[in-house]
Amino acid sequence: MASNKVKIGLMGLGNIGLGTYKTLEMNREAILAATGVDFEITKILERDVDRERDIVVPREKFTQDADDLFKDPEIQIVIGLLGIKNEGDFMLRAMENGKHVVTANKAAIAAQYDELREAAIRNNVMLRYEASVGGGIPILTCLTGALQANQYQEVLGILNGTTNYILTQMTDYDLNYEDVLKDAQAKGFAEPDPTADVEGIDVANKLSILISLVFGERVRPDEIPTTGITGVTKEDIVAAAERGCKIKLIASARKNGDKLEYSVKPTEIPFTHPLAGVSNEFNAVYVTGNAVDELMFYGRGAGPLPTGSAVMGDVIEIGKAIVKNAAYDLVVAGGK
Ligand code: HSE
Repeated sequence: MASNKVKIGLMGLGNIGLGTYKTLEMNREAILAATGVDFEITKILERDVDRERDIVVPREKFTQDADDLFKDPEIQIVIGLLGIKNEGDFMLRAMENGKHVVTANKAAIAAQYDELREAAIRNNVMLRYEASVGGGIPILTCLTGALQANQYQEVLGILNGTTNYILTQMTDYDLNYEDVLKDAQAKGFAEPDPTADVEGIDVANKLSILISLVFGERVRPDEIPTTGITGVTKEDIVAAAERGCKIKLIASARKNGDKLEYSVKPTEIPFTHPLAGVSNEFNAVYVTGNAVDELMFYGRGAGPLPTGSAVMGDVIEIGKAIVKNAAYDLVVAGGK
């Protein structure tokens, strides 16, 4: 198979950026052998050059000027992993400069969903965001690909690793909330500001994206009734167990006639339901489609390598399309 080089600009070399970089480094030869595409991250937008990292990243790749990525004619794909609020604006600039964009930033996608998708279409570039929902679980690709023959009736999700980890540890080991939260931060799945995790905001962002893809309706995250886990006590957990249930932070969206109902809230799930068996930082999405019936997707919803796996999956799809010159029919892949 002929080799084709695809150069990538990476915005952000924090936890997820590093996980993405490592995923490519450890599998680059295998990816080349399987796809015929030789991917290389050539420039990295990152201020913290000297942070201790457990792999060597050549210093000459680092820049502090986003235009070094956007204006580089050799870079075809920009990965957005800055994890900042206005990352959508960076992604818009990348697309205006003709770059395909991949991101894991659910807050940015949920906040600027229409604007970003319109920019992709206008610039005839691909925008992919598989890693934004469910980390390593390829849920968006499945919902919009293999399952696209269905009309969906309901989607239920455990979509935040930090809160599921906290609830699991509180339930199984009788630990207290503060200690478990610190542990989740140390393991790299809590957001730097854990408010978004524990207050359910992160889940509302993910549910907003899921609703767009599953039901074709645009519901902004701030329109989703949202309750986090800060009010869940050990007593609540014990009382739920006495009723044969576990408390999980559940994102749900379902059709009730023509009306779409949605929420994010701590919910009692019977021990017998598959979602009750989803523990620690694992995520799951439980979907009901009118042809396929019930399905559950399960996997690591957070963490550098699982998220890096989903990011690189998107990058590889784009790289294969570039090489086949098929970008025109894959604009905004993974979405209605
Ligand atoms: N903070 C998020 C979580 C990261 O704990 O699930 C993945 O979106």
